[in-house]
Amino acid sequence: MLHSSDSLQNGADSKLPFAERSGKTGWECPSNIALVKYWGKHGQQLPMNPSLSFTLKESVTRTLVAYHYDGKRKQPKIHFSLEGDRKGEFLERITHYIGMLQSYLPWIQGVELTIESSNTFPHSSGIASSASAYGALALALVSLEEELTGIKWTQDTFFRKASYLARLGSGSACRSVYGGWTIWGKVQDLRGSSDTWAVPLPFAVHPLFQTLNDSVLILDEDAKTVSSSQGHRLMEGNLFSVERFRQASTHLQILLNLVSKDDWFAFIDWVEYEALCLHAMMLTSFPGYILLKPQSLEALQRIRRYRDQTRVPVGFTIDAGAAVHVLYPEKEAGKVRTELIQGQLAELCAGGRVIHDTLGSGPVKLIGHE
Ligand code: PMV
Repeated sequence: MLHSSDSLQNGADSKLPFAERSGKTGWECPSNIALVKYWGKHGQQLPMNPSLSFTLKESVTRTLVAYHYDGKRKQPKIHFSLEGDRKGEFLERITHYIGMLQSYLPWIQGVELTIESSNTFPHSSGIASSASAYGALALALVSLEEELTGIKWTQDTFFRKASYLARLGSGSACRSVYGGWTIWGKVQDLRGSSDTWAVPLPFAVHPLFQTLNDSVLILDEDAKTVSSSQGHRLMEGNLFSVERFRQASTHLQILLNLVSKDDWFAFIDWVEYEALCLHAMMLTSFPGYILLKPQSLEALQRIRRYRDQTRVPVGFTIDAGAAVHVLYPEKEAGKVRTELIQGQLAELCAGGRVIHDTLGSGPVKLIGHE
C-alpha cells in the first residue's frame, strides 16, 4: 500500500471535478535490461533482492489514453487495443490491473478509458514488452490524475508514483519509468532506494557505461515454456534461493562499484556470471526447466571466444528466455556489429534477426506536454 509516509498519498477525491470531462493523454516508455536480475518475489509484487538495469532507447511502448469522466460511474470502463487489435486476453489483464489501482487512484472508478498501445519491437523477441507497457500505462494514469484532480505532483513524486503503479503490473516495469541506470529494491546506504518503487542511480556512471549498446539476438521465436510469473513462484521452493538472494545483493554492490570505473573486463565478468546464476536457478527449481536453446549456448561461447581473441570489450547478459543480449560500449559498435554480430552470431538467429538498441534517456510524454 502507499502510505502517507511514502509522500505519494492521494487526497485527490475532494478535488475531483463534478462536471463531465473528456481528454487524452499519452506516454512513450522504453523497456529495460537488468544486469542484476530480479528473480523471486513476495507480497504484492515485492522483490526478494535488489536489481540493477539500464533503460533502452528504441524498444518502446506508446500508449494513448482517451478518458471520459462523468461523475456518475461507479466502476471504471476500459477499452483496450494493441497495435489496433482489440485483444480479449489483454483487455482482461488491463481491466484487472486497473481494478487493483483503486486505492492509489480513487478517481479511477469514475472514468471510461480507451487505451491504445503499440510497440516498436516484436513480441517474444527477448525484450520485455511488459516492462515498457506497464511503464507507459502507469505514466499515463499519473498524468491523467493530474489533469482530472488538479493535483500537481513534484517531478520526484510523479515518477515514484508511476514506478510504484508500474511495479504492480510487472515488477521489472518499475525500473522503466526512468532513463539510464536504475535500481529497484532496498539497498543499504542508498538513500531513497525502496522495494516499492525504483530510483535512478544516484551517481554518474563512467563514460564507458553511459552509451552502452544492447544488441538482442532473437534465437527462438516461440513463446517461453515457463513464464516469468511461474519462474518467480518456483523460487519459493528452490533449495538455493536464500543464497541466491544474498548473492544478488552482493552482485549489486560489486557492479555499483564497477560501473564507476574504466574496467570493462571486470564489469562483464560479473554481468555474465550474474546472468548464468539466473539460469542456474531455473535448472535447480523443481521441476527444473531450461529456457536457453542450443543456439543460445553457441552464441555465448562465440561471444567469449571473440573477446578472448580480440580483447574487444563485449559480453552478454541473458534474461528469462533464449535471447542473448550482446553488450558493448558505443565506440566499439562498428567492430562488434560487423565482426561479431554479422560475422558470427546472426546466422544463429531466427531469420538472422537482431535488434540493435542502446541505453536511452527514458520515457517521453506524447500528449499534453507543456
Ligand atoms: O518483471 P517480471 O515479472 O517479468 O520479471 C523479470 C525478470 C527478469 O527479466 C528475468 C529480470 C529482471 O530484473 O528484469
